[in-house]
Formats: sequence, C-alpha cells, structure tokens
Amino acid sequence: MGSPIVKSRQERPLRIGILGSGLMGAKLGTIFARAGHEVVFSYARSEAKLKRLARNAKGKARAGTPRQAADGADAVLLAVHWSRMDDVLSQAGDLSGTVVVSCSLPMNADDTELVVAHTSSGAEELAKRLPTARFVSAFNTVPSEVLFDVYAGRRKAGRPTLIYCGDDRKAKNVAVRLVRDVGFDPVDAGPLRIARFTEPFALLVAQLAYEGKRGPELAYRFEWR
Ligand SMILES: NC(=O)c1ccc[n+]([C@@H]2O[C@H](COP(=O)([O-])OP(=O)(O)OC[C@H]3O[C@@H](n4cnc5c(N)ncnc54)[C@H](OP(=O)(O)O)[C@@H]3O)[C@@H](O)[C@H]2O)c1
Repeated sequence: MGSPIVKSRQERPLRIGILGSGLMGAKLGTIFARAGHEVVFSYARSEAKLKRLARNAKGKARAGTPRQAADGADAVLLAVHWSRMDDVLSQAGDLSGTVVVSCSLPMNADDTELVVAHTSSGAEELAKRLPTARFVSAFNTVPSEVLFDVYAGRRKAGRPTLIYCGDDRKAKNVAVRLVRDVGFDPVDAGPLRIARFTEPFALLVAQLAYEGKRGPELAYRFEWR
C-alpha cells in the first residue's frame, strides 16, 4: 500500500466588509485584500476615496455602501470614531450572525479620553447593541501607522503581538486569522470584559506613539520567559 495522500488544507478567502475606511479601515482593508480576501470598502465622506482605495488595494476589492459591505460578509471591520457608531450601524443594517471585528475605541470628541471605562468598555457596549452579531475586539491596540510595516515583515521572526478579546469562539477564530494575515502574533486576552483593560492599554500605546519622540510606527511584543 502506498503512503496516504496528505492534502494541504487551504482556507477559503473571506468576504470582509470595511465599515469605516479611515486611517485604520483603509489600511487594514488594503492589507486584507493583499492577503487574498475579498474586501468592500465603505463609509467615508467621498465615494471617490472608497473607489481609489479599492483600486490601490490591488486585490479583490471594491467600493460600496455600508449595507453592501455587510451583506453576505463573513466578517465586517468596525472602524469609525465613537461618535459615528449609530450612523454607520444604522446604515449597515442587520448584522445578525455576522462576525464583527471592532478596532474602535470609545473616545470623546477630541480623542483625549475614554467615555466608557472601568465598569464597562466600548467593546462590551457595542456587543450589547449588537446582541445577535458575533463580536470580537481586535486591532485597537496599535497605531495605524505601523500596519503596513508589520505586514511587510510578516515572514520575519519575532512578530509583534496583537491582543484581542471576546466571548464568541467563531469571531475569535476569524480575528486570529486576520491578525496573523496582517503579520502579528495574536494573543487571546480572554473574554470581552477584558476590553476594560485592553482599551486603556490602547491609550498607553497611543501616548507612546503620538507623544513620544520616536514616532508612531510602534508595535509591542509580549514574551513569556
Ligand atoms: N487611527 C488609529 O491609529 C487607531 C488605532 C487604534 C484604534 N483606533 C480606533 O479605530 C476607530 C477608527 O479610527 P480611525 O483613526 O481609522 O478613524 P478615521 O480615520 O476618522 O476614520 C473613520 C472613517 O469614518 C468616516 N466618516 C467620518 N464621518 C463620516 C460621515 N459623516 N459620513 C461618512 N463617513 C464618515 C471617515 O471618512 P473620511 O475618510 O472621509 O474621513 C473615515 O473613513 C476609532 O474608533 C479609533 O478610536 C484608531
């Protein structure tokens, strides 16, 4: 008898809707498309910008409305300012059963303070608002400026860490895949209530990135010794 044939298990690309194509959404959407996923960019103030992003992504990407981005998506990336959340979610429509990866932080208007903290978190409040969606919090602890660099270095040793948290196993599996695709080493921080710790941590990273002397291309790495 011959040796068994081992088939390599190729995962099918995901259909990802970008809800908020700003600093985070534009870059993550571009990277997801370059990593082989099918991406719909939505929610910016100009349609021309969304079309340009889709063209420049050089993968399977297109521009659409939030509703089109969410329709039939395996996952949506929620990447808007806290003040735009009601608007984008109402435009996206029903997200029941959809994996929602949120990189959003519950910031005040001038981005100086968390408006939800300590006894809850932005992630928990969003998950309460989307009780039928499969919610996970990821990508909110790194500045957008570092994302392309991390992607460029994805084949090198010593990947930076990216923490994520959530209560939904399927959503966490999708987050792990996307986090790896971008070039980070995913670390499960636990259930969604741990966002009470990860969100203030994101502000520490932002402080170092934007107020430090070494610039915003900052990632972090946790090591167990
Ligand atoms: N930036 C970071 O490095 C970073 C890091 C970690 C977490 N976060 C969090 O991630 C989330 C997204 O941050 P971001 O920096 O990517 O935000 P952003 O650059 O402000 O992007 C948000 C998107 O919303 C769009 N938008 C705003 N008002 C709109 C309106 N009235 N109609 C339609 N579209 C509108 C913007 O359009 P335009 O493209 O036309 O401006 C932009 O595409 C936030 O919750 C933030 O706290 C950000």
